[in-house]
Amino acid sequence: MILVTGGAGFIGANFVHEWLRGGRSPVVVVDKLTYAGNLQSLTSGCSGSRPTFVRADICDSGTISSLLECHAPQQIVHFAAESHVDRSIRGPEEFIKTNVVGTFTLLEAVRQYWSRLPESARSTFRFLHVSTDEVYGSLGSADLPFKESTAYAPNSPYAATKAGSDHIVRAYHHTYGLPTLTTNCSNNYGPFQFPEKLIPLMITQALDGHPLPVYGDGSNVRDWLFVQDHCEAIMAVLDRGRPGEVYNIGGCSERRNIDVVEAICAILDELRPVSGKSYRHSISFVRDRPGHDRRYAIDCGKIKSELGWEPRETFESGLRRTVEWYLDNGDWLRAVRDGSYRDWLHLNYGDADR
Ligand code: NAD
Ligand code: DAU
Repeated sequence: MILVTGGAGFIGANFVHEWLRGGRSPVVVVDKLTYAGNLQSLTSGCSGSRPTFVRADICDSGTISSLLECHAPQQIVHFAAESHVDRSIRGPEEFIKTNVVGTFTLLEAVRQYWSRLPESARSTFRFLHVSTDEVYGSLGSADLPFKESTAYAPNSPYAATKAGSDHIVRAYHHTYGLPTLTTNCSNNYGPFQFPEKLIPLMITQALDGHPLPVYGDGSNVRDWLFVQDHCEAIMAVLDRGRPGEVYNIGGCSERRNIDVVEAICAILDELRPVSGKSYRHSISFVRDRPGHDRRYAIDCGKIKSELGWEPRETFESGLRRTVEWYLDNGDWLRAVRDGSYRDWLHLNYGDADR
């Protein structure tokens, strides 16, 4: 049994699909279903075994402890987080609650559960914490990519809370011997991503004929990784990673934001042409994000040499697959955009849970 927190979110849902497609162990998903959680992402395309779903907040220690006793997982993959940098700038409190207090609460419940396991199960148990490259701060154009040994220098409230959670995970390994693993990954993109992040936002804005808002001059650089490659990396770390270690994961695909947006426009011009004009004409440079990190880049040398993982998808092929997915999944997108993906909450839980 594997327990996945945040499994109704973008990367978590992709991970659960990959895991079940691989015929691995049964999955329990624990998710609070914030605005970013979507059960349609989790159930869509599920033909074989389905995950068990539990709606719970990782800050609720009593519920988390009962779930651990009830399902007795041998592995935990912790995705649950508030994940959007712009939202953290507008309202950091939820980020402190979920990313810092929630991760602590989860770890403490897991430590109690783990310490009562028989010795053989204690040594094979794994807690994998999914984190971000943003904890390392911002690079200049000539700087070397982030390594696992790069000093932490988080700049946004989001990055600071993820950095805090990484340190708590590290301490639980160092102090209590909990077999933890931490992954720090670059920007993901692919199916089921909520359209508040750059790539799905640009696709949906373009399809609606709206402006494509590029922050600043568009020259900030991110290292893009197709989400399924990230999921495979997490499985490699879970299977073969050394407890207590940190693994950086990246796509070896550094791109300027403006180049990403222009590439999306070019694919849409081909697949969904609008007569007489390119989507590029909708690009609009807008006020920059406060404290906007200039560049992220990841050195994947450790995970490649120790675990044999490398990304399979190129940015060009992954971006095309992503645009095609959004074009082919209009129902998913419509339900997200008109909010009806949350209707089942009302049906299932009543108004209090909306
Ligand atoms: P997401 O925002 O799409 O999903 C987060 C999920 O966590 C949602 O389903 C939400 O309902 C759930 N959640 C939030 N608060 C919760 C709580 N208190 N209790 C239980 N569940 C809760 O995020 P994502 O993009 O899928 O990211 C997943 C993880 O990967 C995060 O930890 C993020 O920091 C990390 N990460 C993301 C990226 C990226 O590019 N998206 C890159 C590197 C690392
Ligand atoms: O690096 C990993 C991180 O990547 C993850 O830890 C975060 O959870 C994830 O949200 C992502 O953070 P970013 O801030 O890099 O992603 P976002 O998609 O919000 O923005 C990507 C870049 O595009 C960034 O430089 C800001 C810019 N941008 C974003 C939006 C939403 C724009 O220019 N316009 C926009 O409207």
